[in-house]
This record gives sequence, C-alpha cells and structure tokens, in this order.
Amino acid sequence: MVSYTDNRIEALEQQLKLFKESSRQSDLVRKRYQDALSILKQKDLELKQSKQLIEKDLDMLKAMQQQLVEKEKLAALGSLVAGVAHEVNTPIGVAMTSISACSEEIRQLKKSYQAEELTESEMDAFFETVDESMRLAKTGLDQAARLISSFKMISVDQNIDDIRLIDVCDYLRDIIRTFQNQLKKTKIQVELDCPQHMMVKTYLGSLSQIMNNLLSNVINHAYEPEQSGIVHIQIEQKENRLNLLFEDYGKGMDESLKESVFQPFITTARNRGGSGLGLNIVYNLVVQRFSGEIEVQSKPGEGSRFIISLVVETLE
Ligand SMILES: Nc1ncnc2c1ncn2[C@@H]1O[C@H](COP(=O)(O)OP(=O)(O)OP(=O)(O)O)[C@@H](O)[C@H]1O
Ligand SMILES: [Mg+2]
Repeated sequence: MVSYTDNRIEALEQQLKLFKESSRQSDLVRKRYQDALSILKQKDLELKQSKQLIEKDLDMLKAMQQQLVEKEKLAALGSLVAGVAHEVNTPIGVAMTSISACSEEIRQLKKSYQAEELTESEMDAFFETVDESMRLAKTGLDQAARLISSFKMISVDQNIDDIRLIDVCDYLRDIIRTFQNQLKKTKIQVELDCPQHMMVKTYLGSLSQIMNNLLSNVINHAYEPEQSGIVHIQIEQKENRLNLLFEDYGKGMDESLKESVFQPFITTARNRGGSGLGLNIVYNLVVQRFSGEIEVQSKPGEGSRFIISLVVETLE
C-alpha cells in the first residue's frame, strides 16, 4: 500500500517536473516570439522612417531638377537672345553702311547741283550707286526682319493659335499648294500619302508652320538646283496621335549636323539668308505646342527623314 502511494507521488512529482519544464520552455518561446515581434516592430518603424526620408530626398531632388530645368531654360533663352543680337547685327550693319553711302552720294549730288556743275554722267552714276545701295539695304533689313520674326516664333507660349477642326489631308494639300510657285522652279515632286476624311481638332497655324519649315528645307537644302527629287509625306492617325513621316532622298546630313540640327542658329546656308531657326521652331512647336515627339534620321547621300508624332483631339 505504502509503496503504491510512494510510486504515485513519485509519478506525480515526475509529471510536475515535466510540466514545469514544458511551461519554462513555452515561456522561453513566448519571450523569443515577443522579442522577435518587438524587433520586427522596431524594424518596421525604421523602414517607415527611412521611407519618409527617401520621400523627402526625392521631393528635394524633384525640386532641384525643376530648378535646373528652369535655369537651363533661362540660360538657353539668354544665349538665344545673344545669338539673335549677334545674327541681326550683320544685316543691320550692311543696311547702315549702304544708307550712309547713299547719304554721301546725295550730299555730293546736291553740292554739284548747287554749284551748277551737275553733268548727265554724274547723274547716271548717282542713280546706279543709289540703286545698288538701296538694294543692299533692303536685303539686310529683310534678313533682319526674317530673323526677328523667326525669333518671335520660338517663344511658342506667346503665340496664340486657335484649335480648329480640320480635314488633315485637305489642309496639308492646301499648304503644299502654297509652295507651288517655289516648287515650279525646281524638279522636286511632293507625294502626299494620307487617308481621306481624317478629321482632327488641332492647332492650325502651328501645324502649317511645321510643314512650311520642313518643305522649305527640302527646297533649300535637300537637292542641288537642277537635281530631280521627291518629298514623301505620310500621315496616319492612331487614337489621339497624328503621326507624320516627312522624308526626302536628297543629300542628307552628316552626323554632327544631324545631332545639332534642332539647336538654334545651326545652318549651312548663312550666306544664302538662312538663320538656322527653322528646325528649332519645328522642335519647339512639336514638343511644347503638341506635347509630341520628333526624331531625325539622316545620312550623307541618303536623304533625311523626320518622324513626328503630335497629340491631337479626335472626334468621338
Ligand atoms: N531636308 C534637309 N536635307 C538636308 N539638309 C537639311 C534638311 N533640312 C535641314 N537641313 C540642314 O539643317 C540646317 C538647319 O535647318 P534650319 O531649318 O534650322 O535652318 P535653315 O534652313 O538653314 O535656316 P532657316 O530655316 O532659318 O531659313 C540647314 O541649314 C541644312 O544644313
Ligand atoms: Mg530652314
């Protein structure tokens, strides 16, 4: 009897010991779990804090980037103004010199006239010089006026241009028609590849400005005067995008000209009255006015291709 009780007590003690041990173990596990949890919480907090810091840095970077863009715009505008002043200087100088020469001629003529020494040959020489001086002055002033009006076009924001509903192909055909006189003097053919009745709402004046500059570039630069040539214009509309492909098969551009061709004052035709603002205006109109993109592909002897995508409003 005694031994049964003893055994029972012993067994209970053993169980109690086991129970204590497992309870100690589970305390340990609980503690570990809580430790891990608090470490996780801590890490979570740290992560949130560093996320906030990164977001702050990102905001700061964005602000800095914006400032840089503004600064760059200002710097670009500054050099543009300086460039225009520089470019305008030469033709105005030519005009000034010619007008001064004219004044001198008039002074001389008046003197001879008053002294009653004016001869017919002196009169003839006077008319000839004045004619030539006036022609030079006019050329200079025309060039200056062209530069200034191109410069005005550059600041797209300041140009008010109505949005109108147009049939793109009809409109482009009209623009090409305005070039007929110039095209007649060349051997260049214009091919317009455009689906009928493509109605879009868009900036009329700006679209024609883009086409005018590209067309006059083909006439002025792509082909030699007596060379036969083609301008191929292809238009397609995809949702709210109007895609224009404008290509010629003329002399093309070398790598360095191609890389800088959208910059202001880049021209190979300064002596023929080129200002180098045409493609800069095209670029600004495409990017700023139409929120679009423009790319140029060209190689010497292989022609040039302008790939343009404009954002337009379509009819629902
Ligand atoms: N289709 C083309 N083929 C070959 N060269 C071209 C073509 N279009 C442009 N260029 C080159 O790019 C240069 C810059 O063109 P851009 O229209 O900006 O100025 P420009 O035509 O010289 O002067 P502006 O347009 O102000 O009268 C041109 O001088 C010419 O060298
Ligand atoms: Mg041009």
